[in-house]
Amino acid sequence: MSNVFKDIEAIVSKDIPLISNIANVSSLLNKMEDINWVGFYLVKDDYLYLGPFQGEVACTIIKKGKGVCGTSFEKKETIIVDDVTKIKNHIACSSLTKSEIVVPILKEDKVVGVIDVDSTSLSRFTQKEKELLEQVASLLSDLF
Ligand code: SME
Repeated sequence: MSNVFKDIEAIVSKDIPLISNIANVSSLLNKMEDINWVGFYLVKDDYLYLGPFQGEVACTIIKKGKGVCGTSFEKKETIIVDDVTKIKNHIACSSLTKSEIVVPILKEDKVVGVIDVDSTSLSRFTQKEKELLEQVASLLSDLF
């Protein structure tokens, strides 16, 4: 088990508000190497709204199906993009971002939020990051 996951497991608590938990989780996930943005988007109706994050200012509202985050929301699955310039359905919050991973947080088969991580390196995200972030998403699901 990765150290980041252990730290996340140790810090989250059902006794405090969701926003407090995921604010600290965004800080711990920011320990991942070679990333320029990490954070949460939270679901309300058919939209994702910006939640706690680490990095530059980002877009605040994303419609279901739009961009990588909205596609992950719609398909209920993790999406890894090796080169964001190669896909049409990408919302560029930073022109420096080259690759991205988005992992949905599922609760009772409904998407309640997504975790988004960006990197300025091409093909930064692999099965390793997918497994870590899906583990985190599953842990956080209980807090929604
Ligand atoms: N690139 C994302 C938008 C969010 S930012 O990267 C923080 C997307 O295409 O959905």
